[in-house]
Parts: sequence; structure tokens; C-alpha cells
Amino acid sequence: MNYKIAVVPGDGIGPEVIDQALRVLDRIGEKYNHNFEYTKVLAGGAAIDATGGCLPQETIDICKASDAVLLGAVGGWKWDTLPGDERPERALLGLRKELGLFANLRPAILFDELSEACPLKPEITAGGLDIVVVRELTGGIYFGEKGFKDTDLGPAAYDVEQYAEEEVRRIAIVAFDMAMKRNKKVTSVDKANVLESSRLWRRVVAEVAKDYPEVELNNLYVDNTAMQMILNPKQFDVIVTSNIFGDILSDEASQITGSIGMLPSASLAQGNFGMYEPVHGSAPDIAGQNKANPMATILSAAMMLRYTFGLSNEADAIEAAVKKVLADGYRTPDLMANGGKEMGTKEAGDLILAAL
Ligand code: NAD
Ligand code: IPM
Ligand code: MN
Repeated sequence: MNYKIAVVPGDGIGPEVIDQALRVLDRIGEKYNHNFEYTKVLAGGAAIDATGGCLPQETIDICKASDAVLLGAVGGWKWDTLPGDERPERALLGLRKELGLFANLRPAILFDELSEACPLKPEITAGGLDIVVVRELTGGIYFGEKGFKDTDLGPAAYDVEQYAEEEVRRIAIVAFDMAMKRNKKVTSVDKANVLESSRLWRRVVAEVAKDYPEVELNNLYVDNTAMQMILNPKQFDVIVTSNIFGDILSDEASQITGSIGMLPSASLAQGNFGMYEPVHGSAPDIAGQNKANPMATILSAAMMLRYTFGLSNEADAIEAAVKKVLADGYRTPDLMANGGKEMGTKEAGDLILAAL
């Protein structure tokens, strides 16, 4: 079969980790007889430098004409002083909105092979951790009205948090469907003690829950959730939450798996289409030094095979190869707080290919 993949390397470590993910996909293609056809497109700082705009129409068109999108990361110091609507990060938000990617799945799994890299005490993580954050991705404060105005206290800026019932309903359905395939537990995270939009969120999630009598639903405030994630992360199975809370909690969840360099994600539209991206950013502090951990991106490619292409054996093979490399003791620098055999970005790719 031929699969058309739009590839957005982006900025900083984006191109470095994408290179390794494409090598892994190529090896899977050879081994299982698939043809992955890549079209590289510009977005973010790379697009600003080449075309003047962060998200060229051509990029949107090619992504829409593809079966799936694989993205590295966008952003960097060079573009940090641009006005908000011209920044590289706008490209990512624009792609998510244009492609209808309302459901962002961010699985945080502590592999046995990496247990020593988790900063929590072993008794807290004994038996492993397997959480998935289901983050609403095309609504909330990221996409609400924003602007500037004069106030009693002088010039001010504002961003509005707003959720339509339908936006909450469709992300809650994704979360409950996911819980049915897992441990049948959903934690809905909000700030319903303060925010009107969170009270609507909580009410709609409770309505959806009625269609899933087997699933246990808990509501937690986001501040408590941030604390519980460190105190007792094993209580979580599926976490469903808003765009901004999901952004923050998924970075927190990433750290208990060892490193943000391990966390993949799938951003899904209605149907099978999706964009696959590591949770981390462009890491300008280590860009161009062959230090970035490419596993988050490689595992994102595995999610693409599983969710959009239905190739679960191939996805399993990638995940097993990643674990094999970790089990053999190899670590990129982000995973080395407790030792290990150091490998660079490219060597990680070499070792994963060898394990395949
Ligand atoms: P970041 O995730 O890029 O980096 C945070 C820290 O984690 C840094 O110390 C970095 O070196 C480390 N890190 C991240 N990914 C790593 C990897 N694969 N291997 C090893 N270490 C890794 O977050 P930031 O520093 O807050 O943001 C940097 C830039 O990235 C900003 O411009 C930001 O807007 C952008 N960003 C983009 C995305 C995206 O494109 N999806 C996501 C987050 C941040
Ligand atoms: C992420 C990033 C993005 C977000 C930024 C770069 C727009 O932090 O994908 O987690 O906040 O969604
Ligand atoms: Mn983030």
C-alpha cells in the first residue's frame, strides 16, 4: 500500500528528530512492504524565513491532500519578538484548526526499561504508569477572542476562555471511548469552582458519562490534579481536559515517564485523519548538537501507523524496538540523570533500526 504523509520538520531539533523518524518508517516500509511517500512542507520559523509567513497556504493544501501529517516542532528565540499572529507557534495552531484536529491524545507511559529515569520514588510508580491525557485542541483560551484595551490600571491584554457544549461533548466522547478500551476510568479536569466555562464543561461531561455506565468518572480541579500527578499518579487512567490545562498537565505527566523527549502525541480529526507530533518543543538550547531524544517523534510515527493507517503490528514493532534500545542501557542525555550508555540523536536512530 502507498501512504501519503505530509512532513513538517519545523525548527530547532524538529528536523533532527524527524530525520530519525523517517528512517524508522522507511525500515518499516521495507520490512512490511508498504510505501511511505513523504512531502516535506514548511511551517513555523522555517516558513517565515523562506516565505515571510509562518503557515503558507501550500502547506495547508498539501496536509489536507495527505493521509496523515508528521510534525517535528516549531519556534525559537530568533522569532520570539514577532507580534503574536506572526510567530511560528501560530502555524501549529493554524494547522490544528484548519485540519479540524480537536482531539489530542498524549499517552504518558513509564516503560519498565526506564524506571530509574523517573524522578518519583520507586514505591509511587511500582507496577508502572500508563496515563493518557485527552486534550481538547481547537477551542478554549487558545482560540477565544483576544486583544488589547485600556483599563483603570492602564493598558491591558486579554484572551477569552470559551467552550461550546458541542466542543466539550465531542472530546468527552473520545475520552470515554478510550477509557472503554483501557481501565474504564475517566478523570475530567477543570476549574469549576471559579470558571463558568468549566461549569459547562463539567455538566456536559456528566451527560456524556450516562452513555458509559461501566466507566467511573471523577471530577478534579486542575490545581489538585497537578499535585495528585506527583503524589499518586497511579490513580489516573484517562484524563480529559481543556486545551490549556491539557498543555500544562501533559508536560507534567511527561516528566514522570523519564523525559519530555519520550512523549508522543496524536492530534485527531473526526474520522481517521491525524497529525502526529512529539509533545516537546523545538528545544533551541540543544538544537544542532545531536543531543535531542528522537523517541517521542518515533513513537508519534508509531501512533500514526496505529491510528490513521490501522497498522498495529508495525506500530508494535517500533515500540518494541524503542524499548529494546532502552533495555540495552542506551540513553540520550535527557535520560541520563541516573547513568546509562550515552547515545546521540542519530545513534538512537541507528540502534532502533538495528533493533527492527
Ligand atoms: P521545549 O519542549 O522545546 O524544551 C523544554 C526543555 O526540554 C529544554 O530544556 C529542552 O532541551 C528539553 N527537551 C525538549 N525536547 C527534548 C528532546 N526531544 N530531547 C531532549 N531534551 C528535550 O520547550 P520550551 O523551551 O518551552 O520551548 C522552546 C520552543 O519550542 C518555543 O519556541 C516554544 O514555543 C516551542 N514549542 C513548540 C512546540 C511544538 O511545536 N509542538 C511545543 C512546545 C514548545
Ligand atoms: C504543545 C505546544 C503548543 C501548545 C504551542 C507551541 C502552541 O506547547 O503542542 O504542547 O501550547 O499547544
Ligand atoms: Mn506544550
